[in-house]
Amino acid sequence: MFVSDTHLPQLLPPAAYTDAAWYQRELETVLRPAWWAVALEQELPAEGSFVSFDHVEGPVLLRRSGGRIHAYRNVCPHRLAKLTAKSCGTCPVLRCEYHGWEFDDGGATRRIPDAPSFRPLEKGRLGLDLIRVEQVGPVVFISFDPAAPPVREWLGGDAEPFETHFRGAGWCFWKTEIDLPVNWKLVIENNLESYHVGAVHATTLGNFPPEEACGHHLDEHGSRFDAPGDGSFLKPIKRHLAWRLGRPMPEGYSHSVVHPTLMWIAVDVHAGFQSIVPTGPTSCRIVHRSAGWQSMGRKPLVDWAIRQVLRTDLRVWKRIIREDFVMLPQVQAGMESPRHPGPGLVSRREERITHFQRWLLDRLGATDGAADHVADVVPVRRPVAPKGGVA
Ligand code: FES
Ligand SMILES: [Fe+2]
Repeated sequence: MFVSDTHLPQLLPPAAYTDAAWYQRELETVLRPAWWAVALEQELPAEGSFVSFDHVEGPVLLRRSGGRIHAYRNVCPHRLAKLTAKSCGTCPVLRCEYHGWEFDDGGATRRIPDAPSFRPLEKGRLGLDLIRVEQVGPVVFISFDPAAPPVREWLGGDAEPFETHFRGAGWCFWKTEIDLPVNWKLVIENNLESYHVGAVHATTLGNFPPEEACGHHLDEHGSRFDAPGDGSFLKPIKRHLAWRLGRPMPEGYSHSVVHPTLMWIAVDVHAGFQSIVPTGPTSCRIVHRSAGWQSMGRKPLVDWAIRQVLRTDLRVWKRIIREDFVMLPQVQAGMESPRHPGPGLVSRREERITHFQRWLLDRLGATDGAADHVADVVPVRRPVAPKGGVA
């Protein structure tokens, strides 16, 4: 069931999806303090494995060493080059590729070629910037904010179900990173509503479920949508495979968003997350991982069977995501129009969007979340109303 009895206001003005000053304020207020799901631990399988990527605060390097994963700003303290431009690999020593400076796990310089030519240089004075890294189950999170609470605290009520569902999610069957020319909030808001299903996903998902069959749960960290599972012929097979793993399978579809940018799903033996990484006021990157439950080698036949059913599902998941991502630039283009027919309107079925927008406005400093107050918070270029019309 839905929470609200009535439709709701669209709280954010169009400028929130286009304006550079607004984006800068979001970076400082909600994006930098967040935790970001960036990888599955299986992506760093061996001692010395690394992955690198660009993020809201620039290039990042994750590397496994001493049995744990470390995160660094991927910028060398010597001449500020990226240590590596490779997206993944294995290196026995953490070394910058440009002049060969080497670093220990804590980021301190360990060896400098021709060190006397840097005289005088105190030992350990230059090093890599460390980035906070924590894991929940197999999911690797980073935060650029030294003052951020531990990731489990940040996840709030999602921490326990997230960890439970991702436990044993040992086979990554879909890893993708997609750049989109849209403001990050459009991706989140699209994730937050099922209203577009009937129009955008008619052939893949059919219509949206009736209100009695679904549930919205809103709290101070984010929101969740619960719906009945699909009636696929694979369902009993998955249920049997989960039983063989000794764990109950969720019967329904559960879709959660932890504000501001983490979406995760629990659907049968599939554990997936999407992290929406803003790359500018009107662009973002979607980091998506889908993993399947596994026995970690105890029951190879069960593991193999789960991989087969999830491969079958993957074709549909890819189509669903493509359907969304084709649509979103069209929404961005409408937001960028200099004139609008009104402020917009949110249905009860989209109420998680208003919940998210209110959360954001609260953090940006708007007292009651009303769009009229936003101009006091961030300098917003408001469109001018044409004579006799509305903007
Ligand atoms: S820039 Fe890294 S060693 Fe010179
Ligand atoms: Fe969708």
